[in-house]
Amino acid sequence: MDTTHQSASKFMTLERHIIEEKNKHPHATGEFSGLLHSISLAVKLVWREVTKAGLVNILGKTDRMNVTGDEVKKLDEFADETIYKAMDHAGHLCVMASEENEDLLHIPDHYQHGKYVMLYDPLDGSGNIDANITVGTIFSILMRVTNSGNGTMDDVLQPGYKQVAAGYALFSSSMMFVYSTGHGVHGFTLDPSVGEFLLSHENIRIPQRGAIYAVNEGNYNRWEPNMRRYIDWLKIEDKADGRPYSGRYIGSLVADVHRTLMYGGIYCYPGDTKNKNGKLRLMYENNPLAYIVENAGGAASDGKTRIMDLVPTALHQKSPLFIGSIDDVRFAEEFLAVKR
Ligand code: AHG
Ligand code: MN
Ligand code: MN
Repeated sequence: MDTTHQSASKFMTLERHIIEEKNKHPHATGEFSGLLHSISLAVKLVWREVTKAGLVNILGKTDRMNVTGDEVKKLDEFADETIYKAMDHAGHLCVMASEENEDLLHIPDHYQHGKYVMLYDPLDGSGNIDANITVGTIFSILMRVTNSGNGTMDDVLQPGYKQVAAGYALFSSSMMFVYSTGHGVHGFTLDPSVGEFLLSHENIRIPQRGAIYAVNEGNYNRWEPNMRRYIDWLKIEDKADGRPYSGRYIGSLVADVHRTLMYGGIYCYPGDTKNKNGKLRLMYENNPLAYIVENAGGAASDGKTRIMDLVPTALHQKSPLFIGSIDDVRFAEEFLAVKR
């Protein structure tokens, strides 16, 4: 048997990767590794249900039935509960918050309370499920600031630069898990035959500039003039490699940002006359994706300020988002700042 490890990365499971990352930090307790492992299990449980979505009408009632009735739960509610239940008892977390719940999600008293806080968007892009379009789960991890017991709003309302890890799962033609703990961004693809995430995208780097933009252009007439001018500018001939930027918009943020991470370019969700701060949520969407994209060499801004420097004041607050290749985000900021 050849015992050299020439192709070791082919068999790098997520679990092993997390342990090797931990071993680089001699003082790490392993609690964090356990937390990431629990998240990877939680998203596999969500994925299992997402892949069955198209069969619900054929197979009838599923185990997504609630206890009192025969109603099939919406998938985003299912995902929300699944993640909460997969994470509440492992002893890593002191509190959670999710896009689907108005208030904080407390850890039951009879379970151990840990030093981390988790915020998540259980199913991003869920409006697309019926058309079999890519959706995903986004998560953000913070270190608690209070000392013990139940986590509080102070633990949760921290700016994005305080995140200690973030990532997402992508339910697409294959399922991916992309995460960072501040030491590069790593992507894993699920091998469903063995149920393991295998390292497929080591140390992802976003191109410094891209040639693709993503925005819901249906809102064009609600944008401020500088925003319109910016998008018009991207469409000018010769703007990127002798041609205009290409427009791509899936309408699932996590999928649009994943493509932007892979190919470069920019994703924008600006404020407009109807929604001053756009549509996307700072704590569950913008901060974790900003953490990923910055750790891959890109940038994320609300048009003026770095996303991760915004100081949150409410759990469900929104912010505009310009995220992607560093040069593209800076161009966008320059356009938006022009005084006329
Ligand atoms: P969610 O499904 O978690 O509510 O998020 C929906 C978000 C995001 O995924 C997507 O990019 C955006 O809404 C699309 O908004 P528009 O339909 O306004 O373009
Ligand atoms: Mn979302
Ligand atoms: Mn959602």
